[in-house]
Amino acid sequence: MADALLAPMRLGDIPLANRIIMAPMTRDRAGPGDVPIALMVEYYAQRASAGMIVTEGVQPSPSGKGYWRTPGIHSPAQIEGWRKVADAVHARGGRIVMQLMHCGRVVVPANRGFEADVIAPSAIPCPVPVPGPDGTPQPCAAPRAIAAEEIPALLEEYAAAARNVIAAGMDGVELHCASGYLVNQFLNPASNRRTDDYGGSPENRIRFPVAVLAALADAIGPGRVGFRISPGNPYNGMDPSDPAATFVPFLAAAAPLGLAYCHVVDMELEELDTLTMVRAHFDGPIIANNNLKPDSAAALIAAGRADAVSFGRAFIANPDLAERIAKGAPLARPDYSLLYTGEERGYTDYPAMVAGETA
Ligand SMILES: Cc1cc2nc3c(=O)[nH]c(=O)nc-3n(C[C@H](O)[C@H](O)[C@H](O)COP(=O)(O)O)c2cc1C
Repeated sequence: MADALLAPMRLGDIPLANRIIMAPMTRDRAGPGDVPIALMVEYYAQRASAGMIVTEGVQPSPSGKGYWRTPGIHSPAQIEGWRKVADAVHARGGRIVMQLMHCGRVVVPANRGFEADVIAPSAIPCPVPVPGPDGTPQPCAAPRAIAAEEIPALLEEYAAAARNVIAAGMDGVELHCASGYLVNQFLNPASNRRTDDYGGSPENRIRFPVAVLAALADAIGPGRVGFRISPGNPYNGMDPSDPAATFVPFLAAAAPLGLAYCHVVDMELEELDTLTMVRAHFDGPIIANNNLKPDSAAALIAAGRADAVSFGRAFIANPDLAERIAKGAPLARPDYSLLYTGEERGYTDYPAMVAGETA
């Protein structure tokens, strides 16, 4: 069964040795200036046997930062920091793309360490508290609605970030369109009450998201650009109802761009078979995610419902997850109290499998 997960493949321009992808996970360990630190180089290098790593969410610009100690990709020092990550993963034969995550309105200002605008499609605060520097949830800042005239500059911020990702030696970018962050805020009617060309009908709400994808594709080539969606996810104040009304036109508009992949967080909705919807409206490769186990993941690929799969939590305590799956070895469990704290503890101190260990 694991064979379906171990077959090589391509995602756009990116060749993968297997189909076991590491899902993006924010871990709050960046250093001063939001620069990746040596510990992060070690963490990602330990996980290089994944077919591809998607990094934690990374802010494309200062206004994109919402959480404590998240890294950026907009300063020379950040590019140099990420170059060390990319080089270490490549030296071990792995592939790595960077998730571009602009938080939009999901911002606790104390998490930033600097002053910057809080922007969103509409001036509606995120209704959900977000962890502050000490991990205690705090109210989010009140955003200002971005003006239509500012959108070209915002698109250029994304494009510049993508060029920086390539300058750092990474294989590509993944646009975070999921989980209630900026792109999702444009897609969703609960956070997008605009009355101009960027709000109202689904066709208008997808305009900014599609424009970002096109800008990224223009900047670095479509074969190095993927995107992540989570239709029907209520996280961060999104309205989960009728996701197909928005995502069918979004996927249909994204398809002609010739992108590397669509990464789908399948919310296991009762009213919608999300993977079937994506397959029907997007003709590129699909990475499936959410609550997968090796067997259920292999079954998705064998049935043609996905081309690759990603694991999040399983990669935290199993740096060599691909080898463990290949050998049918048992999986270690993470210590969830150390997700966002602990520096090396709960981060780089999970051992690889002992030689010869099998189920
Ligand atoms: C600690 C942690 C941090 C996460 N951070 C991100 C993130 O930065 N970007 C993102 O798209 N998803 C993020 N996620 C969601 C995961 O990518 C994934 O969708 C989720 O864990 C479900 O997959 P799993 O069942 O294999 O863990 C995070 C999940 C965890 C556990």
